[in-house]
Amino acid sequence: MYAELDPARLPHHIAIIMDGNGRWAKRRHLPRVAGHRAGVEAVRATTETAARLGIPALTLYAFSEENWKKRPRTEVAFLMGLLRHYLKQEVPLLNENNIRLSYIGRERELPAEVQECMAWAREATARNSGMKLTLALNYSARSELVDAVNGLMRELADNGNVPHVTEQDIARHLYTHYLPELDFVIRTSGEMRLSNFLLWQVAYAEIYVTATLWPDFRGLHLLQAISEFQKRERRYGGLPEPAPAPEPVAPERAHASAASPAEALSPTGK
Ligand code: FPP
Repeated sequence: MYAELDPARLPHHIAIIMDGNGRWAKRRHLPRVAGHRAGVEAVRATTETAARLGIPALTLYAFSEENWKKRPRTEVAFLMGLLRHYLKQEVPLLNENNIRLSYIGRERELPAEVQECMAWAREATARNSGMKLTLALNYSARSELVDAVNGLMRELADNGNVPHVTEQDIARHLYTHYLPELDFVIRTSGEMRLSNFLLWQVAYAEIYVTATLWPDFRGLHLLQAISEFQKRERRYGGLPEPAPAPEPVAPERAHASAASPAEALSPTGK
C-alpha cells in the first residue's frame, strides 16, 4: 500500500475525527471507557505512521466542548486521567519521531493538573522539527471563531481603528494559525458529520469517512485513506485540468471514427 502512494502528493495537514470508541466497547460487552483506552493504541499507531510518511501536520479531535459538558462525570474524569497517562507515556516516542506536540481548544477550562501535564509535554517536545501533532481538547469550532473575533477586536482597539478585516486577519487569530492549510479530514465510524470541528479550515479540504471504529484504526487504514485522497481531483472552485490536446488524426481515420455512437447521435453526425 505504501509503495502505491505518490510521495509528491501527500496531504499537508490531516485532521481526524476519532469516533466509535463507545461502539467498539459495546460490541465487546465492555464499558465505554475500555473503548477510549483502546483508542490510545490507535492514536499511537496513526501518529507514528503519519510522522514516518512525512506528513507535516496531524490534528486529532480528542474531546469536544460538547463531550466535556454533556458526558457523565465519570467518563470525563476517565478521559482526563487517560490523557495525562498518554502524555506522560508518549513523550519519549514523540521525541524519537521528532514530533512537536501542541493543543487547540479552551485549555484554561480543563482541570489544573491536566493543564500542567499538557504544558510539560508541549515543552518537552518543543524543540522537535518534524510533524506537528495537535490535540483538540475541549475544542469547538464555533468557540474558536468567537475567540478569533474577540482577539481581532482587541488587536484593532489596541492599534487604532482599522475598518477592514481580511480572511488572513481571521486566520491569524484562529487556534490553528501555526498550521498548514487543512487539506484532508478523516472521520471514523461512518457518521457523515463534522461535529463542530475546524469549520473555517475545512473550506477546501477533502473529506473521507470510513466505517472502521477508531480503536481498530491503524497505519494501514491511514495509508488507504491517503490513497483515496490522491485519487480525488482538487479544484478549489475552478475547472478540471483540460485534457491533453488529442493527437492529430489522418482524414480517413477521422471519417471512420464518426461512426462512433456518440457522434452518430450528435447533430453533425450523419
Ligand atoms: C469518540 O468516541 C471518542 C471520544 C469522545 C474520545 C476520544 C479519545 C480517544 C481516542 C482516546 C484518548 C485520546 C488521547 C489523545 C489520549 P465515542 O465515545 O463518541 O464513540 P461512540 O460514538 O461509538 O459512542
